[in-house]
Amino acid sequence: MRLVRPSNEWKKEHEDYMNEWDEPRMTPSSFNLTGYKNYEAYLEALKIRESGDGKWVPSTNYFLVDENNRVLAMVDIRHNLTDYLLNVGGHIGYGVRPIERRKGHATRILAEALKKCKELEIHKVLVTCNADNIGSAKTIVKNRGVEDKSFIEEDGTVVQRFWIENI
Ligand SMILES: CC(C)(COP(=O)(O)OP(=O)(O)OC[C@H]1O[C@@H](n2cnc3c(N)ncnc32)[C@H](O)[C@@H]1OP(=O)(O)O)[C@@H](O)C(=O)NCCC(=O)NCCS
Repeated sequence: MRLVRPSNEWKKEHEDYMNEWDEPRMTPSSFNLTGYKNYEAYLEALKIRESGDGKWVPSTNYFLVDENNRVLAMVDIRHNLTDYLLNVGGHIGYGVRPIERRKGHATRILAEALKKCKELEIHKVLVTCNADNIGSAKTIVKNRGVEDKSFIEEDGTVVQRFWIENI
């Protein structure tokens, strides 16, 4: 298994993954293909987003890919925190292909993302999840997450917040 960056090579895999996605929102949102006229336009928009343009902070996105070049999971690493990210989004967002869940891939992609954070010199990493997302909370705790105060969004959603020492 390895991390690779989105590129034209992964167009078909990315589209298949999107078609299989089973939640109302794509997670991480940086991998949402909806609204782009083609994959090139998506890649161009991702490049701008990753550069930290406008409301975005600089970020890096990766697919977790297996030996058959199948995309298993996706991760977005935000290089610093805004108020919103400090309360709700955190440094790292991830999602796993529905059919590939409960096989340890979230635990693996978060561990790999933490290595990338080390390279970026992010040594205190914030990872969050909604309080009803048991799988994600377990993924974070398995990666040494230590729980901090939760944040309550305007609509009442409780966001659990965890810090990971990443020295
Ligand atoms: C949450 C999510 C990332 C978990 O991915 P996953 O690959 O299934 O997670 P893992 O296999 O690494 O499992 C990690 C732990 O969580 C547990 N787990 C996973 N899904 C679970 C669920 N739905 N309910 C309860 N426990 C769950 C696993 O059993 C494992 O714990 P264990 O080692 O004690 O058995 C995946 O369900 C997903 O992509 N959901 C939609 C997007 C999302 O919520 N992203 C996270 C945003 S914060």
